[in-house]
Amino acid sequence: MRVNYTSPHDLDESWLDDGWEKLILRWIDDALAGGVAEPNAMVLATVDADGRPSTRTVLCKGISRAGVVFYTNYGSDKARQLGLNPYASATFSWPLIGRQITVRGRVERVEREVTDGYWRSRPRGSQLGAWASDQSQPVASRAVLEQQLAAVAVRFPDEIPTPPNWGGFELAPTSVEFWQGRENRLHNRIRVTIAADGSPSAVERLSP
Ligand SMILES: Cc1cc2nc3c(=O)[nH]c(=O)nc-3n(C[C@H](O)[C@H](O)[C@H](O)COP(=O)(O)O)c2cc1C
Repeated sequence: MRVNYTSPHDLDESWLDDGWEKLILRWIDDALAGGVAEPNAMVLATVDADGRPSTRTVLCKGISRAGVVFYTNYGSDKARQLGLNPYASATFSWPLIGRQITVRGRVERVEREVTDGYWRSRPRGSQLGAWASDQSQPVASRAVLEQQLAAVAVRFPDEIPTPPNWGGFELAPTSVEFWQGRENRLHNRIRVTIAADGSPSAVERLSP
């Protein structure tokens, strides 16, 4: 199962010249072109009240200098954990193209208008699913879930409003690390550290 990474392009500090957000966007495009399914999927780590980590995948739905945005249920485990400790780490992992990005920082809810804008872009089926699911809570059976879905479809025959307990979070990075697999496990790791005003305060190469 061992893979030898032989990228023809050698990541270095200069790749960050246009900003970390541009490089994430470029790498997502490269992952898509390289055949990665859902290259905007990232594994999000949060910690619970006892300081114990949890991870799960979410889809990144926005990237700007301010941070990376994902959407979820505000009553879910992840959202409750972020309410207690608003720090997270998110990793895009693309072994198929020998790359990984990890974003760490503080998480805050996005403005309601931002959530509403994204909500309107979602297909009706996804909107109904969000209303029907009390995310992270136990549910008696698959049949119960489907009854809940049918009930919301009747309740909202036309336009579906944003559920009050659903919305976006933005992870504003304090650091972003880009990893590129290379020969002999001498991988490239470049980390940008970001100051409170959003400007990069250091771009460093890390030992693999
Ligand atoms: C590829 C993929 C994408 C996912 N995207 C999201 C997402 O954008 N938002 C979300 O709430 N859950 C998403 N999920 C489901 C989560 O991984 C998780 O099961 C759910 O959010 C509940 O997590 P929690 O109980 O830790 O809060 C996704 C799962 C996969 C496998």
